[in-house]
Amino acid sequence: MKKITLVLGCLILLNSSCSKKQNNAIPNYIEEPHSFSQPNDAAITHLDLDINVDFDNEIIQGKASYLIKNNEASQIILDTKFITIDKVQADGKDTTFTLGDFDTQLGSPLKIDINQNTKRITVFYKTTHKTEALQWLKPRQTTDKIHPFLFTQGQAILTRTWIPIQDSPQIRITYNAKVQVPSQLMAVMSAENPKTKTPDGLYTFKMAQPISPYLIALAVGDIEYKAVSNRTGIYAEKSMVDKAHYEFSDMENMVASAEALYGTYAWEQFDVIVLPPSFPFGGMENPRLTFATPTVIAGDKSLTSLIAHELAHSWSGNLVTNASWDDFWLNEGFTVYFEMRIMEALYGKDRANMLARIGRQDLEEEIEGFKDTPDDTKLKLNLKGRNPDDGMNSIAYDKGYLFLRTLEETVGREKFDTFLKSYFQKHAFSTIHTEKFVAFLNDNLLEKHGITFNTDEWIYTAGIPDNQSIILSDKFETVEKTVQQFVKTNTVDKTLTKDWTTQEWVHFVRNFPDDIKTEHLAMIDDAFNLTNSNNSYIAMVWYEQAINYDYHGNNIDTKIEDFLIKVGRRWYVSTIYKAFKRNDKVETALAIYKKARSNYHSVTANTIDDMLGYKQD
Ligand code: BES
Ligand code: ZN
Repeated sequence: MKKITLVLGCLILLNSSCSKKQNNAIPNYIEEPHSFSQPNDAAITHLDLDINVDFDNEIIQGKASYLIKNNEASQIILDTKFITIDKVQADGKDTTFTLGDFDTQLGSPLKIDINQNTKRITVFYKTTHKTEALQWLKPRQTTDKIHPFLFTQGQAILTRTWIPIQDSPQIRITYNAKVQVPSQLMAVMSAENPKTKTPDGLYTFKMAQPISPYLIALAVGDIEYKAVSNRTGIYAEKSMVDKAHYEFSDMENMVASAEALYGTYAWEQFDVIVLPPSFPFGGMENPRLTFATPTVIAGDKSLTSLIAHELAHSWSGNLVTNASWDDFWLNEGFTVYFEMRIMEALYGKDRANMLARIGRQDLEEEIEGFKDTPDDTKLKLNLKGRNPDDGMNSIAYDKGYLFLRTLEETVGREKFDTFLKSYFQKHAFSTIHTEKFVAFLNDNLLEKHGITFNTDEWIYTAGIPDNQSIILSDKFETVEKTVQQFVKTNTVDKTLTKDWTTQEWVHFVRNFPDDIKTEHLAMIDDAFNLTNSNNSYIAMVWYEQAINYDYHGNNIDTKIEDFLIKVGRRWYVSTIYKAFKRNDKVETALAIYKKARSNYHSVTANTIDDMLGYKQD
């Protein structure tokens, strides 16, 4: 009876609180375990950021002002972690707020009192030395060693450590920013960027397309710009600009071939900034400005699939965004698939299949590593109560890729491409979770063409289904035969390797036969000087094997130590530390780690702390 009265009441009092639940202007956000925000009540829609970057004190100070979509709420909740809140205003007037209990993963909810008409909130704040997104680099930690450097890393839940924000990937905001930096330095963001320094170190930015908070990014340093085409180019420190410009000369071709595959590039400009070597990732797809590690500057353009990968995120991730970190595979699996298609379009099937085979081996090793926790090998995860980083491994990337490749081979490329294009179009500038994807797949591909496919098995069960696509590479078969021959004959025939690409070398090093001995490693090293390889990828896999096989020739131990001190790319350093651990050499690992740790960004340091059981003194 009560219910009926309520419904009738709603019909009569359309402007009352009953209309609250029917407000179509506010999208329906799903429950999400890694944000305190309650966007169904009040959601941020636009950010005006006004900050000062203080290198002397290593803090950022200023204000974050938001336009909000207010669903007649009395409170709006932002995420914060390790930042100090000085003052909060609602529509320009001071308002009351509380900081909720601190959670080690999520930080503290900032609960701001508003009224049902509040349109704008402003938070005055400063970062602290615990702030996890920022890495402040001393001049010696940069490439040119003259000026300091700062960069941010937002994904997955670190933006809240440098900006108070509703830090869920479901949120989408446009932003303007005013950033004051020392006048010798330039600031760039995931936004429209300057191409030269300003005289006073004041920079203004605009991101006109709505993006998720994890994609807000800032870098400050003594950097220069060099265009590759009228919409692509490189930012880097002076001594790196030309090298990077050469290495990434195919950027424009990559954008063109990506557009030919899955539709117009939505962000106008595609630039890459090459950061100092401590950058914890290979790349990070910050919109309009990918952040990249210098370890991909190999001198021969052999590691540029990283650029294809970050570019692909301009569709899968930045345009169509995973709704929660449990759906991370929707970002990364699609991106790896798209990356392979760009690489195939530009450089042919051989190259793409070598890359795919390397990923297939990574996947095998990851699944083996998860043998005691098979649930971690599902595509759709349940990371509630865990750090979203726990789900950021080869499963999302390589199992996600294998699923999509298998699907493509089942339905045929033409149908699959039409489907993917419409997937990006229909969900542009919105978020998607796994169940919504499955429904879209059924409606627009499988049922439409009367095709049956074991989608649920791929997504919701552990391991790899039997119908997986088999990735073949003639080139890699030759590599495997070659290494076997070297071992069997105890000699090295250099004519067999002279045309090898980086990918063939990586496969060679990672696929030694069971009967290989330390003497063979020495023979191979003497012939090919792998210990001193300038190619970071080849060096990394060689160091891993040196540890596995207890090989100490050619001063390799010092080289490994130097590498781990200089490079902070998490995937590289964790592979090497993991090898020490697996081979009962944790003491050696810890001795090196103590020297290296202060050079690492928090995401790398946290991973290695956990792996080695390291506790700071
Ligand atoms: N978005 C990721 C990096 C990332 C993942 C940051 C999870 C924080 C949490 C980026 O696109 C990526 O996948 N980078 C890879 C590149 C590779 C797969 C080509 C990396 O860093 O190695
Ligand atoms: Zn990625």
